[in-house]
Amino acid sequence: MHSSPVLLGIETSCDDTAAAVVADGKILSSIVSSQDVHSKFGGVVPELASRAHQRLIVPVVDEALAVAGMARADLDAIAVTIGPGLAGSLLVGLSFSKALAFGLGIPLVGINHLEGHIYSLFIDDKGPSFPFLCLIVSGGHTQLIKVEAKFEHTLLGRTRDDAAGEAFDKVAKLLGLGYPGGPEIEKLAAGGNPSFHDFPRTRLQGYDYSFSGIKTSVLYYLNAISDTDRDEHIQNHISDICASFQEAVVDMLTRPIVKAARETGIRDLALAGGVSANIALQTRMRELAERMDGRLFVPDQKYCMDNAAMIAIAGHHKLAGNEFSPLTLTVNPSLALV
Ligand code: KG4
Ligand code: ZN
Repeated sequence: MHSSPVLLGIETSCDDTAAAVVADGKILSSIVSSQDVHSKFGGVVPELASRAHQRLIVPVVDEALAVAGMARADLDAIAVTIGPGLAGSLLVGLSFSKALAFGLGIPLVGINHLEGHIYSLFIDDKGPSFPFLCLIVSGGHTQLIKVEAKFEHTLLGRTRDDAAGEAFDKVAKLLGLGYPGGPEIEKLAAGGNPSFHDFPRTRLQGYDYSFSGIKTSVLYYLNAISDTDRDEHIQNHISDICASFQEAVVDMLTRPIVKAARETGIRDLALAGGVSANIALQTRMRELAERMDGRLFVPDQKYCMDNAAMIAIAGHHKLAGNEFSPLTLTVNPSLALV
């Protein structure tokens, strides 16, 4: 191994084909190819995703190596996402990684996608000190985690149905907006009135979340308008509807983490995953953290969404602890965090 190990990270758990090169814990390149085949369906189509990964994996890895100024022979290890995610998509990344690791005679390390999101906070030597409370909030996940140390965490709460990002995507579809819906809703919400409509917030006991109700309440709200007036109403009030919906989601996301902070005495809070790019969510969380004399940590915007840099960084930390995976490693679409 080089004195500063060179690691290739690969991420194909959903609809982004991503590769990154990390040397000595520093990101040399991070390439993400987002598949646009899904946009007209308003959500990810698993079969199309795995076929697109097959088409994209080699060019994306080659580009990551080229940007890093590295050749395949320079690699010392490969870190790859093994779950949770779509089975067919995960298989493309893992099969490619196994073949490359075997061909080069270098170690392979399997990474939990959610741990990848946690490690996106530590890219560029930034990030919180332990312990901290992390809300992973993306299109597939809404999980509240107490992170006690490197790869040591306790799951405090999770969504019982839809993920928060999924709610953004589904509501965007109801409003005739594009996919992914989160960025579209956030953009429109910026000019809207968050008190325009009071969408009911679902509040559960403990630290769990539920987002299927808010999606349904947007649907009921739209259905209550007569067919002849609906399009015009949406057109006139799209910003207000988006702002009101976003306000409700931010309320629902922040309540359990504040409760957990009070109950555990942990002051440092973190966001990770696609929805953590949302500025309204960041602003509210920062205010709440500061009110408790704590801080909020958020990954750089480019590392909020799915990427391979976070997988490579998680791999870097695993390798530092001499943790490798065998070539018999398999994917686990429902891999849990703990
Ligand atoms: O982490 P990610 O790239 O993929 C998953 O693992 O799911 O997250 C994608 C999700 C999508 O649901 C997208 O709508 C949401 O993150 N998202 C946002 C924003 N940017 C992305 N949601 C709200 N506000 C945003 N600015
Ligand atoms: Zn993700």
